[in-house]
Amino acid sequence: MLYDSRVERLRTQVGIVGAGPAGLLLAHLLHLEGIESVVLESRSREYVEHRVRAGVLEQGTVDLLNEAGVGERLRREGLVHGGIELRFQGEGHRIAMDELTGGRAITVYGQQEVVKDLIRARLDAGGELLFEAEATGLDGLESDRPLVRFRHEGAERELECRVVAGCDGFHGICRERIAGKLRTFTREYPFAWLGILAAVAPSSEELIYAYNERGFALHSMRSPEIARLYVQCDPNDELADWPDGRVWDELHARFELDGFALAEGPVLEKGITPMRSFVAEPMQHGRLFLAGDAAHIVPPTGAKGLNLAAHDVRVLAEALADWSRSGDPAGLEGYSARCLRRVWRAEHFSWFMTSMLHRFPDDDPFEVRLQLAQLAYVCSSRAAATSLAENYVGLPHV
Ligand code: FAD
Ligand code: PHB
Repeated sequence: MLYDSRVERLRTQVGIVGAGPAGLLLAHLLHLEGIESVVLESRSREYVEHRVRAGVLEQGTVDLLNEAGVGERLRREGLVHGGIELRFQGEGHRIAMDELTGGRAITVYGQQEVVKDLIRARLDAGGELLFEAEATGLDGLESDRPLVRFRHEGAERELECRVVAGCDGFHGICRERIAGKLRTFTREYPFAWLGILAAVAPSSEELIYAYNERGFALHSMRSPEIARLYVQCDPNDELADWPDGRVWDELHARFELDGFALAEGPVLEKGITPMRSFVAEPMQHGRLFLAGDAAHIVPPTGAKGLNLAAHDVRVLAEALADWSRSGDPAGLEGYSARCLRRVWRAEHFSWFMTSMLHRFPDDDPFEVRLQLAQLAYVCSSRAAATSLAENYVGLPHV
């Protein structure tokens, strides 16, 4: 990185906006290819390292993190799961994902742990990662020297680069900047998830997705001592509507099953997440490439958001490496189409899981019968279970 002191301008090869999983992993993969980058993150390091979000890593994401040399703690602390349970009408059904997919599995490992590992790797390698550096504008995207304007330590600054990676999440500025060039696809769901982190040993070894007349519930975990639980709620609910007692009452009711006891513990964190599907096409304009939640959102029922972000930046890093080595822009030109194929598969799977497992507010009895028929099919047909399993563990990276 070079400083130009007269105009407070920094220079680098790839300017990355956002230090979520997408931006951090991209910076690390580029570093492995010998490509320099600067990451701008509006929040503090403390904030991004403690933001509780995703928990399920596909096999391909785990392989990518391992190959990139940032999997040491993940291998030690990640919980490898070969199955999930679908629970409905008072019965639990195991989907044996490993057996159905030739040995593939998911790993439960908190997104904030992935973020911590990537920040450490970046800083250890002397990488430029600026916290509390908010990108405020983008210029020259159709030129070969685009510019990111940002605010850092009280000063207005500029980052000149060859390419900008918009990894600034759903509410960032990068997608907005090219909104006129994009076609967008959106679906809002009439429910949200209230999630808690609780200091209690998980009550089940594997994840439980429960369909119940009171609404959906999910039992997940972060470690042998920490459970992560979600209940479907109204999208207009506020945290004040959900005191701890009410959350536990709903969880007990929705997971009810003979012989199953849900253990309670102190609630460490609580949050409400809206449910939405969203895709922006194409994921690129001029020298700006969008990756992760900046380009697409899935409802969390399929556990795909973080995994899609990892796939996008893998494709982008490969394309940038080819371009930098040989000057061949084919990979960059094909970036959006290649990512969108996987994005739309994940959009469909996430919509499918969400539609099958949630109660809709109109409580249409026809809809309910269809959901139960679909759940019964997935739990009784090897073909249907295999389809769910191969999507859940993640299709091979292409
Ligand atoms: P983000 O993580 O949103 O990172 C974007 C970063 O950009 C942020 O740090 C933000 O502060 C920064 N930023 C924004 N604007 C600016 C700016 N102007 N200047 C500088 N920086 C900026 N996915 C899964 O795969 N599996 C799961 O099990 C799963 N569960 C989930 C559960 C919940 C409750 C939620 C909310 C999400 C879940 N997801 C899951 C989705 C997953 O968390 C996201 O898809 C993932 O965070 C996307 O990463 P990202 O880097 O693209 O975006
Ligand atoms: C989580 O552990 O946070 C989690 C697990 C599975 C999902 C969504 C979130 O589908």
